[in-house]
Amino acid sequence: MRRLAVTNFIRAMSIALGTEKVSGFECINYVQRGLAAGYRMIDTAQVYRNEEEIGKAVRKSSIPRENIFVINKISSGFKKNPSSPKEASDSARASIDRLGLSYVDLFLIHQPGNDEDDTAADARRVTWQALEDLVEEGIVKSIGVSNYTAEHILELRQFAKIYPPRVNQLELHPWCQQRKLESFCRDQGIWIQAYSAIARNSHSSHAELCALANKYNKSTAQILIRYSLQKVWTPIVKSTSLAHLHANSQVDDFTISKDDMKLLDSWDKKMEGSICMYLKKTLVAKINGPLVPWLINTTEE
Ligand SMILES: NC(=O)c1ccc[n+]([C@@H]2O[C@H](COP(=O)([O-])OP(=O)(O)OC[C@H]3O[C@@H](n4cnc5c(N)ncnc54)[C@H](OP(=O)(O)O)[C@@H]3O)[C@@H](O)[C@H]2O)c1
Repeated sequence: MRRLAVTNFIRAMSIALGTEKVSGFECINYVQRGLAAGYRMIDTAQVYRNEEEIGKAVRKSSIPRENIFVINKISSGFKKNPSSPKEASDSARASIDRLGLSYVDLFLIHQPGNDEDDTAADARRVTWQALEDLVEEGIVKSIGVSNYTAEHILELRQFAKIYPPRVNQLELHPWCQQRKLESFCRDQGIWIQAYSAIARNSHSSHAELCALANKYNKSTAQILIRYSLQKVWTPIVKSTSLAHLHANSQVDDFTISKDDMKLLDSWDKKMEGSICMYLKKTLVAKINGPLVPWLINTTEE
């Protein structure tokens, strides 16, 4: 099976700009503000219905296209239960057209579908194969998954030409660490992206978190973003506030100590700590993989 290369450029991308529930003209402004503030990785999805605006902001920017990393997520295939890769392929192509970009850096399958629905496995296979074809064509640079369990990832081995998936994008923050799945992904060399990385600011008055913020002279959001980076995840954070947008990127000037990382780790509530309803309903990681240090492979293969 062929592995896609991860370049140093991708490695340099540290925090992604979330774009869920930002649309219209506000979305163009938002992405432009994000790029001006130094963000170079933008996360969108078909269901966010803002692909056109994101594409416009990227095209209008004076930053070279190759210095911006656009992540998109396909989901429409599952609603239609595609019986052929062509349907999934058409859906992904329509996304690329809406973006108005000649390529997408990373296309993810947004979610694995409902395991109780016996057409979901077929939809996963067909969608993956369609994305593989787009990689072959060069209009998608790399492909991955989101909200996949270890079992869903292993299933890919039965038919994938490209394995492992480059990324698994998951809800990850101290209250929802998905440890077994996270460890499994690291074992497989899968780049972990952490969505809702600051848990939608819902723990901003958590006493111990506030104490850490005081100790490091940072905001609670900055502590959570730094935590995510030190876990070697790529945090995806959304902020429509300019002040937050700037502050969230200022996290390189401090390091959370080992003991404080352990403290943050101790807040895990497993699935109960999830703020994403999708996860609460469907995700149960069953793999008992050993925890091994994970490094992004920066060599061309
Ligand atoms: N793959 C998936 O299934 C999936 C699921 C969910 C999300 N995502 C992606 O992940 C992105 C981020 O996740 P999310 O939007 O759910 O949650 P999040 O980024 O953890 O939190 C966003 C919320 O936090 C607030 N906020 C941001 N910075 C702040 C700061 N410094 N101080 C105080 N409040 C702050 C924002 O308000 P303000 O705007 O006022 O700053 C917003 O209400 C999404 O936009 C999307 O791109 C992917």
